[in-house]
Amino acid sequence: MNKNIVWHNVSVTRERRERLNKHKSVVVWFTGLSGAGKSTLAHALEERLYQMVCRTYVFDGDNVRHGLCNDLGFSDADRTENIRRIGEMSRLTVDAGVITLTAFISPIEKDRNWVRNLFASGDFIEVYCRCSLKVCEERDVKGLYKRARAGEVADFTGISSVYDEPKNPELIIDTNNLTIDESVSRIVALMEERGVFSVST
Ligand code: ADX
Repeated sequence: MNKNIVWHNVSVTRERRERLNKHKSVVVWFTGLSGAGKSTLAHALEERLYQMVCRTYVFDGDNVRHGLCNDLGFSDADRTENIRRIGEMSRLTVDAGVITLTAFISPIEKDRNWVRNLFASGDFIEVYCRCSLKVCEERDVKGLYKRARAGEVADFTGISSVYDEPKNPELIIDTNNLTIDESVSRIVALMEERGVFSVST
């Protein structure tokens, strides 16, 4: 980093924003194979939190890759850069007092751990959307598994590119066995346990 760059201290701090919002800000980081239900769950959780009068935002792999990350492909190096940018972006939105939900395959364990280490412990909630490759492939919502099997999509996660299963996520959601509503309730319960909804004024 250039040594002429000096950090500017803010007067409207994260703590003040949290008091204004009446909730704490955290990042809920969804990881899992393509088609495992990350985006579905992130948006369903966002809907529930909205009903609870919480400020939220969802970063979603497919959407972010249309803009901020539209220069990146699916090599390991590009995925690492994708996750680095989203990690840094999440740090900013958490600082802005927003409950930040992210839905990225984020297949590489060291990248996920790098993001985890950007946050104070307790501010990063990793949710593993666990679903077998077989089921994701049967769902094939976007038709990409079929194309990957036919050799038309290179470096496809689970087929020609790795997915490191999370070893110690805060929560595992078996998306093939739980309803969306039950899944959301489990995440909200964990957030409650973590004190996200209790801010002393
Ligand atoms: S990540 O690996 O860098 O975290 P990200 O979540 O942003 O991936 O993007 C994944 C989405 O891009 C998938 O849901 C799928 O729709 C699309 N996609 C296109 N090509 C690939 C590929 N080779 N591997 C995985 N997903 C791909």
